[in-house]
Amino acid sequence: MSEHPFRDNTVLAHDAQTLDGAAQPTTLSIAPLVFVAPLAAICYPFLLMLFHAVVGAPGATLGAVDTAGATFVLLLSFAAPVLGIAVACRKALPTALRRLAYFSVVAPTLYVFLGVVQTLLGSPIPDPWVWCLIWLAAILIAMRASRTEPRPQAAPSLGKWRVAHGVSAMILCLYVFFHLGNHLTGLVGPSAHAAVMDVGQTVYRASVVEPVLVAAFLFQIVSGLYLTWRWSAARQDFFRTFQIASGAYLSLFILGHMNSVFIYARWYLGIPTDWNFATGAPTGLIHDAWNIRLLPHYALGVFFVLGHLVAGLRVVLNAHGADRRVVTRLWMIGVVASGLIAAAILAGMSGVRI
Ligand code: HEM
Repeated sequence: MSEHPFRDNTVLAHDAQTLDGAAQPTTLSIAPLVFVAPLAAICYPFLLMLFHAVVGAPGATLGAVDTAGATFVLLLSFAAPVLGIAVACRKALPTALRRLAYFSVVAPTLYVFLGVVQTLLGSPIPDPWVWCLIWLAAILIAMRASRTEPRPQAAPSLGKWRVAHGVSAMILCLYVFFHLGNHLTGLVGPSAHAAVMDVGQTVYRASVVEPVLVAAFLFQIVSGLYLTWRWSAARQDFFRTFQIASGAYLSLFILGHMNSVFIYARWYLGIPTDWNFATGAPTGLIHDAWNIRLLPHYALGVFFVLGHLVAGLRVVLNAHGADRRVVTRLWMIGVVASGLIAAAILAGMSGVRI
């Protein structure tokens, strides 16, 4: 092996390191394929622009070919998270490039966060420019870090963090299930959504409840990011990788979402955070050049929060000695159901009614 880790396209890394075990150095080859996820993330805003060019402004009528093309482009916009998870699972990968893959998973929610922050700052620089700079910097930093990767230390136990994160999640589930149930009523119509939200607000926006809720979500973000950082140091199996990736997405989603609700809408714009705010009225989610970014952001927010809970349940059931095949089947049913619920909520927000 050459002295320089990257010479001859090989690198000394510690793929076999486990969180609670000692590192075992291995020789890894870096295939250009590991960069597909961040490259898909760079393309993300341009895919949304292409989608907008096809569907046009509100009132535009679409033919079958346009509809098929727009659907295809929208599905392509989910490539960064999908490829991010696929790459993060790879065996031969230095930690920094694995973390870059996890970072690609958060692209759809990061782009919403960026847009809101840009508006709050009154930035004259277009979002796609800033976006490309962020990703080029992330790729360069990751490549540099992977060349000088230090020998990893055996990690201390994460037991207490995991228990605290899980207990806090169980409490927050009360709010999340209500919140998602509330958004499902959008399939009936905006007035059903408003009626349910009015009832819920008497509880979760009460002066003693709301600060506790926000503090608990902030704890969830911090503990989630810490666990993500630690787990992402080494390769994990597909199920664990999905759990880490969904957790990473949620950390940024919740942070950006609270920023949009509390700072941007209620404080900066002084508008109610109701159905119109959520659906980007009057133009809506589909036909507005800015709002279309909310569609993958919300869809993955719902999918990942439910999928993350399903992943946590799998760990608990396995730890209690449940039949592994039954647990895997439950996981698959849970993930498919999460996808269907996300699709149903977004359909309602896009105007579908039952
Ligand atoms: C389709 C997806 C979602 C949409 C459209 C949405 C929309 C909204 C809206 C409109 C509010 C303001 C509610 C109010 O004024 O009473 C809100 C608040 C909030 N949402 Fe969501 N949300 C979604 C998913 C999620 C998810 C998945 C989470 C958590 C993982 C979440 C966490 C929160 C939190 C913490 C608040 C602040 C609650 C408060 O007012 O105290 N949301 N969301």
